[in-house]
Amino acid sequence: MARLTGVIIITSVYSYAYNKRKVRLCMVSGKHTDNRIKKNCPMLDKPESGVKCVITNDRFDCLRKVGEELSDLTVLGPEDLAAAASSREFNILVTNELKFFPEEKYQYQIIALFRTTSGIQDLRDVRGKKFCHPGYESAIDWTPVLATYFENTIIEKECDPNKTLIENRVAAASKFFGAACMPGPWTTDTNLDSKLKSRYRNLCAICDNPAGCYSDDKYHGRIGAVMCLADGIGDVAWVRIADAQEYFRTQGINKGDYRYLCYDGTTRSMQTEEPCPWIAKPWPVVVTNSNQNEKVFNLMMTLDTQNVPWHGALVRLLENYHLAQINRDDSGTPGDYLRRVPGFLSANTHTPCKPSRTIQWCVSSNVEQRKCMWLRQALSVYGDEPNLSCIARTSRMACMEAVTQQEAELFVIRPDEELVAKQKGLKRVVHVFTNKIEDVNKVAAVVRRDSKINNLEQLRGLKACFTGYQTIGWNAFVSIMRNMSGSNWDPLDIKAVSNFFKESCVPGLKENSFKIHTFPSNLYSLCKEGAEYKDETSAFRCLVNGGGDVAFISPDTVKKNTGNQNQQTWAHGLKGSDFKPICFKESDPDSCFLTWTTLGSVMVNQNISSIRFEEIYSTLLEMDQLFGKTYNGQTPAFLLYGSYDGNHSIIFPKQTQHLQSDISHVHLDRSYVQIIEDLITNPPQSSARKLHFDLLQLCLMCIVLSIINRVMNQ
Ligand SMILES: *[C@@H]1O[C@H](CO)[C@@H](O)[C@H](O)[C@H]1NC(C)=O
Ligand SMILES: *[C@@H]1O[C@H](CO)[C@@H](O)[C@H](O)[C@H]1NC(C)=O
Ligand SMILES: *[C@@H]1O[C@H](CO)[C@@H](O)[C@H](O)[C@H]1NC(C)=O
Ligand SMILES: *[C@@H]1O[C@H](CO)[C@@H](O)[C@H](O)[C@H]1NC(C)=O
Ligand SMILES: *[C@@H]1O[C@H](CO)[C@@H](O)[C@H](O)[C@H]1NC(C)=O
Repeated sequence: MARLTGVIIITSVYSYAYNKRKVRLCMVSGKHTDNRIKKNCPMLDKPESGVKCVITNDRFDCLRKVGEELSDLTVLGPEDLAAAASSREFNILVTNELKFFPEEKYQYQIIALFRTTSGIQDLRDVRGKKFCHPGYESAIDWTPVLATYFENTIIEKECDPNKTLIENRVAAASKFFGAACMPGPWTTDTNLDSKLKSRYRNLCAICDNPAGCYSDDKYHGRIGAVMCLADGIGDVAWVRIADAQEYFRTQGINKGDYRYLCYDGTTRSMQTEEPCPWIAKPWPVVVTNSNQNEKVFNLMMTLDTQNVPWHGALVRLLENYHLAQINRDDSGTPGDYLRRVPGFLSANTHTPCKPSRTIQWCVSSNVEQRKCMWLRQALSVYGDEPNLSCIARTSRMACMEAVTQQEAELFVIRPDEELVAKQKGLKRVVHVFTNKIEDVNKVAAVVRRDSKINNLEQLRGLKACFTGYQTIGWNAFVSIMRNMSGSNWDPLDIKAVSNFFKESCVPGLKENSFKIHTFPSNLYSLCKEGAEYKDETSAFRCLVNGGGDVAFISPDTVKKNTGNQNQQTWAHGLKGSDFKPICFKESDPDSCFLTWTTLGSVMVNQNISSIRFEEIYSTLLEMDQLFGKTYNGQTPAFLLYGSYDGNHSIIFPKQTQHLQSDISHVHLDRSYVQIIEDLITNPPQSSARKLHFDLLQLCLMCIVLSIINRVMNQ
């Protein structure tokens, strides 16, 4: 009996605590929301409130948190719901719509409106007609999925392998329509855009400025496309219902001259019949997980913003729209919800080309794989084709190999991997870049402040600390010294460095040396036993108390390990001013480094076709624009360079600001890109080749020995 009571007490305490537990509201931090969060979340922290805030950095993070029950409710956009619907992983339910206009069922609906004198009676009649389109560039409420739904439905998809997917779509439209005005960029890659505009001129022919076809055209945009039709320029237009009706009303245009063209091929009178929208854009929604949905439903149903201050704070955090409760029986999964919206789900399904145009992205860890899967989802609902697939390998080296073997198409390479990647036949598509000059990574020859050393030549005969063989510091030193010394520099890089320094620590050489005696021992004699780490701090420590006179490291490493930043005993009392980088021009502090690097490169196999290269390049630019540093709307849906579930620098380094092919605007000498070019076009005889040669010699000896052996035994 006592035991039973105990159980009952424990259960009721548990359920009391459970019911008392606050509903966790997932909020996305950002420039538009931080003020609201700062003002309202503290009001939710009060004891009487039933809700508390959980802060993340993008909406997909909130979606995952609600799905994984780390949070209980959040606000999502319709595209986010489409991504959630196709991932099927999460049990989430839609509870409310956030309506800006309470009486409107959807944010907006799109129609195909035509002029009765155009001779259109049926979908087939659209062929050869003049088409008015508002433009393709993504905006808060406009995505490629919405922009292309009409064309994708009425025009047969082309998959010419000699054209990029974008060109295929444009070419098909150019063939289908007699003329059109499709102003503004067709792709984020401006060079490709101009090329397409000049190749498929009829798609700009009825714009106000056909030669420009820019976003500032009279017929660009929501109203522009309506005007293009109403001015008698075009025959059929892809426009929002509300925009067309409003424009016709204010301009006094006779609706009797226009009809709606419906998805099923029928037509309806604009004057007397209801419109037949092709696709609707739903409102943002509140979602909850299946575990907490009862509680969230009840809370949302009983909100009393007039009398309960924390209810007011909650509603302000939910964007302050009119909260429309969804009928409990109608609430459902994202898929259930979106199926009731005309066109939305079918517009999000594309028929793939054969052979597939899917871009295969190599990832080298579980967390990279998961982030890549969300990038894939984000691109499929917010972006244009082609789509992505994430190819998993177990290491970074294996990913480079996969790209070499064409088992994957691209991989994000770090600066210290660029030489190996190039040697494997990989080619850069874009640089991973930061615009902050202080985030540009530099490697310098760092010496003690009180030393008399002022240039690289004065290092001859001294002791050097490297981070490893063929690392950025090694490569820069070899390339620069070779250029400065001309024929005095031994073509075999290890021999040259071995001759130049009396002693060095090049981590990694010793382990490989006992296998075969290729590396002169003075290249690792300075390494401390058991402390052979190929990292920056070890190289700095080698300078501090390992007997080195110079360390080839980033100036940041000095900062991170001096002035009490590093608590280990060897770093005690070190000051940043105890060290100095060697400068190339004596009085120029901006010349005090060996080389500077970008944050990395996105690389592909050098043998891929120019079409494929262009396709991958424009897809990367599109991703950068959609999911990069700047975003459309109140909060970012997905941040490509942001942290993933609290992990920083997954796939792209966290300092990344842009993907770009050109970095010539950076006015710094000795870029690592140049050094790599130098080492690739004019390779130092590397020990790898020498190793090969030695192995070959060894093998020949084995064969000779085994022959002798056989002969002797006979
Ligand atoms: C693609 O181009 C190649 C060479 O330019 C040509 O041989 C081939 O027929 C083209 N393929 C198509 C589908 O046009
Ligand atoms: C997107 O990629 C998947 C493979 O990951 C493929 O099965 C699917 O058909 C692709 N969709 C399109 C439109 O290419
Ligand atoms: C590129 O093609 C050439 C010639 O077919 C081949 O020898 C080379 O290995 C290929 N390179 C890569 C990285 O696949
Ligand atoms: C080699 O040195 C010359 C002048 O000293 C310079 O113009 C050139 O850019 C250098 N080349 C490399 C690869 O550093
Ligand atoms: C990601 O972050 C979590 C918690 O912040 C941590 O436990 C985990 O080790 C991290 N994973 C990686 C791969 O960094």
